[in-house]
Amino acid sequence: MHKKLFIPGPVDVRPEILQAMGTPMIGHRSKDASALQRRISEKLQKVFFTQNPILLSTSSGTGLMEGSIRSCTAKRAVVFSVGAFGDRWAALAKSNNVSYDLVRAENGQPTLPEVVDQYLATGKYDVFTVTHNETSTGIMNPVEEIAAVRRKYPEVLWLVDAVSSMGGTKIDVDGLGIDVCITSTQKCLGLPPGMSIASVSLRAIEHARQVQFRGSYLDLVELYDYLVKKDYQYPSTPSISHMYALDQQLDYILNVEGLENRFARHLEMAKITRAWAADRFAIFPAQGYESVTLTTVTNTRGISIADLNKKIGEVGYQISNGYGDLKEKTFRIAHMADRTIAELKALLQLLDDTIAKM
Ligand SMILES: Cc1ncc(COP(=O)(O)O)c(C=O)c1O
Repeated sequence: MHKKLFIPGPVDVRPEILQAMGTPMIGHRSKDASALQRRISEKLQKVFFTQNPILLSTSSGTGLMEGSIRSCTAKRAVVFSVGAFGDRWAALAKSNNVSYDLVRAENGQPTLPEVVDQYLATGKYDVFTVTHNETSTGIMNPVEEIAAVRRKYPEVLWLVDAVSSMGGTKIDVDGLGIDVCITSTQKCLGLPPGMSIASVSLRAIEHARQVQFRGSYLDLVELYDYLVKKDYQYPSTPSISHMYALDQQLDYILNVEGLENRFARHLEMAKITRAWAADRFAIFPAQGYESVTLTTVTNTRGISIADLNKKIGEVGYQISNGYGDLKEKTFRIAHMADRTIAELKALLQLLDDTIAKM
């Protein structure tokens, strides 16, 4: 039985998009491939609110996180982490021999602008990273306030992980001044896993040219230069199936649902879930920093989340246990991509009925 997914990716994909994945292949060096990739990029610029070039990578989001921290850091990066996915930036820096410092907030707390200010003021860094939406703790970081602080340090490149939020809430990449903004296909965009997407500022590309060892497959400069020289094509064979799906899903997001409606639906689902959680359990992230795309709930009743998930699984639903150390202490309900308010309400009712019998 297929389970309705309320996990923070992969998400359920609309049947017509799954069908689009099955469109017959074209050559990746054809004019049709260039046209497809250009179309996708132009639509993605609207979703990202940016004029910056878009780079696609046939890798999951971690690929472009690795590529960007390695390609962009000539001096030293400071990684502001609020959980497991923030820590990932540091792990990627370490394994790529990139100099970095890790600044870790307590679980459930955000990255505060004054902390960013304090570190950037040292002049030690040419790159800083922020997780927009930390999928483990359910924190959505205050990027507007961080952007205000960052304006004092325009020379420092800002890399943002928007893997579990882009397409579910407005991230005004150009307004905020984000140099590299990364997402994956299997989250709020509502596609199968397998591709990552980044908007990259030209100053990030120019800065990266100074870095001698940028790797190869995930080198942002290589990807960008190739795209410019070869009319939106990529150095190696991309997942053309994902591109067909993206092309169609972006039309749906932009022209059928509309971005504003999509953001409003995500916010409404978040509000419903938060009210449910606050009434029955507690909300894990600090107040005012709750994610719009998933809710991390503190398991104040000490029920077995594994059992709960097993029971709802028997009738075709799935939520997520807590991530890492937060397993059983918290659980997560994702409300992202094309999930509807009615589907979410049905899940919450099922959770109530199931918990009552536990
Ligand atoms: C916030 C965040 N960053 C990064 C990642 C890694 O993305 P991927 O699994 O696409 O490599 C995830 C995946 O869940 C995530 O939620």
